Amino acid sequence: MLSNFSQLSERKQAGPPLAVLTCYDYPTARLLDEAGVDLLLVGDSLGMVVLGLPDTTGVTMEDMLHHVKAVARGVSRVPIIADLPIHSYTTPELALRNASRLIEAGAQAVKLEGGVSVIPQVRAIVGAGIPFVGHIGMLPQNVVVEGGYKKKGKTPEGAALLLADALALDEAGACACVLESMVAEVAETITKQVKMSTIGIGAGRACDGQVLVTPDLLGSFPWFRPPFAKARSDIASETLRAVREYIADVQSSTPA
Ligand code: KIV
Repeated sequence: MLSNFSQLSERKQAGPPLAVLTCYDYPTARLLDEAGVDLLLVGDSLGMVVLGLPDTTGVTMEDMLHHVKAVARGVSRVPIIADLPIHSYTTPELALRNASRLIEAGAQAVKLEGGVSVIPQVRAIVGAGIPFVGHIGMLPQNVVVEGGYKKKGKTPEGAALLLADALALDEAGACACVLESMVAEVAETITKQVKMSTIGIGAGRACDGQVLVTPDLLGSFPWFRPPFAKARSDIASETLRAVREYIADVQSSTPA
């Protein structure tokens, strides 16, 4: 069980792999903390699985702050990573200002998407003493620009770009990095070459840890689930059952 980010390098060496989940609200934070997850991520997947947006590109700093505060109220032990949403880190100054706001709201680390192209932002955040988590591979904030969610690292050139991103983030002081939707062998190569902990999602089993979007794990967002995400419960069906039972119960009673 992890209690702060300085324990990451020891875990990378000695294991076991990190079990990371996303979280957006108080009751789920209490349950995930009690269950013993290693890290919580208040991800901008918030946009889809909580706010009903088509993708993460509509998520704002105000949305993130609201949900980071709720999650922080529910946590007694597990460290929280918060996502910097799209447009919130276009310059190093803006990145640092918004990272500080997320920390004040209750996060212990911040994450943003990109590699070589965001190193000045990463250096500003790390230089201020804020633990930083990178995110490379398939970048959900790029979905509109790229016209869809595409697996990365399929060509030697693509794999080399991913490795260059990972090495740059490692060198800039990232303590961990999400590797999203990339060829498993590329994720394995990166994991072996960096000091930071790699946290995979759709990137094979060789990473230093795995992250899942919690509604995918619980089966509470049944309308879309990525193929690599195994649902271990069916909260959607159970919700429908309980609500239909309640409706039937209320409607079967005769008004006085
Ligand atoms: O926003 C998010 O939930 C994420 C995970 C998919 C890693 O960034």
